[in-house]
Amino acid sequence: MNDLSSFPSRTIWNDSEMLECVSIIPEVPDTATFAFRAPSGALFDFLPGQFLTLEVPVPGGPVHRTWTISSSPSRPRSLSITAKAQGASVATRWLLDNLKPGMRLKAIGPAGRFSHLHHESDKYLFISAGSGITPMMAMTTYMYDLGTEPDVVFVNCARRPSEIIFRERLEHMASRVPGIDLKWVIEQPDRFHPWTGLQGRMNQLILGLVAPDYLEREVFCCGPEPFMTAVREALAGLGFDMDRFHQESFSAPVGTELPLPEDVVPDEDTKAEIHFAASGSSTTCSETDTILAATRNAGLNIPSGCTFGVCGTCKIKKIAGEVHMVHNGGISEDDIADGYILACCSHAIGSVTIDV
Ligand code: FES
Repeated sequence: MNDLSSFPSRTIWNDSEMLECVSIIPEVPDTATFAFRAPSGALFDFLPGQFLTLEVPVPGGPVHRTWTISSSPSRPRSLSITAKAQGASVATRWLLDNLKPGMRLKAIGPAGRFSHLHHESDKYLFISAGSGITPMMAMTTYMYDLGTEPDVVFVNCARRPSEIIFRERLEHMASRVPGIDLKWVIEQPDRFHPWTGLQGRMNQLILGLVAPDYLEREVFCCGPEPFMTAVREALAGLGFDMDRFHQESFSAPVGTELPLPEDVVPDEDTKAEIHFAASGSSTTCSETDTILAATRNAGLNIPSGCTFGVCGTCKIKKIAGEVHMVHNGGISEDDIADGYILACCSHAIGSVTIDV
């Protein structure tokens, strides 16, 4: 994690404490940055690029949603997320319409492995679309605050210039540090505002224009799935070493189900038993049901976010029994060794007891 030992207060925030909203900054249409502090004064320790899951109290019951932390751990007294409401957004719409400074929300995390600190390199290419810019903002701010000279080509694709999030802040950083090379790519200009930069959709031609030396760079990509697919295919088609390509996504790949380990033949007809230690009840389910689904069917609640093993929101303690879990990085080896599992991607084998 980030080294906070030089700060006078060494208490590090953990998610047993609610977060208090301290400011809301409108960024572009339907998009705002929400800054939080720990009421206890604890500091935030995380890696730039990691995410946080918030419990959002929408009408009808709380929902859990995951956002990348857009602030940098080099500024550890507060933590921000930047949320953009899409058409059907419920949680982000609630934040935009209802969250006010002073209100407190439950948060889970930070978590995630999408950080340049896990893939150290001399040169980076950060390529994002829309609100996928948030982890790139955190990583770039972190490098800027460190005071060393980074070498980052920072590409963001937006529908229009007026929809580029963090534009002024990034241009300010780039004006002071020559190693931050900004490239905006828009789909169409704003009316009555001439645009002299790049225009079009991401493809091999634009990639070569924005970062001619892309073969030498560690690439981080975040945005809607079709955008990340386009970038991935463009790079693969150009002979890029895809081990150096990293992407972040909070939605399950379309049509993809988590594979079960090879030693398990999922069998709908094989029954499993789940015992809920805290509530003292039990349920029977099929081995092919996830523990999350079986728990819900039993009328109990485990908070969840992504539902495919990334965000870590559904982490619970397994007290006894055996499960098969195939996650996507949402739980650490230490937590697994301590008996924790992710309910959304764990299947009970035989009889299992969990702390719910
Ligand atoms: S809900 Fe995200 S890891 Fe289970």
